[in-house]
Amino acid sequence: MKIRPEEIKPKKIRFGFLVSGRGSNMLAIIDNCKAGKLNAEPVVVISNNADAGALEYAREAGIPAFHLSINTHADSSRLDDEITNTLKSHEVDWLILAGYMKKIGPRLLGEFRSKIFNIHPSLLPRHGGQGMYGLHVHEAVLASGESETGVTIHMVDGEYDQGKILAQEKVSVEVDDDPATLAARVLKLEHELYSETLQRVIDGKISL
Ligand code: GRF
Repeated sequence: MKIRPEEIKPKKIRFGFLVSGRGSNMLAIIDNCKAGKLNAEPVVVISNNADAGALEYAREAGIPAFHLSINTHADSSRLDDEITNTLKSHEVDWLILAGYMKKIGPRLLGEFRSKIFNIHPSLLPRHGGQGMYGLHVHEAVLASGESETGVTIHMVDGEYDQGKILAQEKVSVEVDDDPATLAARVLKLEHELYSETLQRVIDGKISL
């Protein structure tokens, strides 16, 4: 039987996740993979936090999930090796950071160079870098008096919140916003923009 070119499905990209907390961005990506909106497959989840909601979500979804941290591997280079080996043994193509609060180790960075993605809840380079996580980001936006903030999807290099920017979208800051209301509005966009951007990279519409 002859197979027409349009019947040949491109290989799904295998996603590995690094997460620390709630995991709502990871979950949005997993849901979009399941719904066929993202031509990718979640294959493993690693968290530095044994109590992360993200590990729970992953286990419920039947995705292998591991807690790897200084509590399981006191030596940082052994931890770096273990994280890298776990991703490689699950044949991960791309590494998706979704609220991961730790710096990436040198071996991991080397093995997955140009294949590590992150999301940040502001318009980088504004309100990024060390200490800029969670509500701190939105507090800084409100303190600056800026009228807009947004979401950034970027590649990861060795530093916090640096690396090539792949996509940014704006969110307006309202006069009566507090950090929590602003965070909620930004998070809604995060859940859309991360998957959309990854699919645009898969489609070759964004070059790395
Ligand atoms: C998100 O705001 C993300 O942009 C930032 O950390 C937060 C993680 O939230 N890097 P969740 O764990 O995905 O719900």
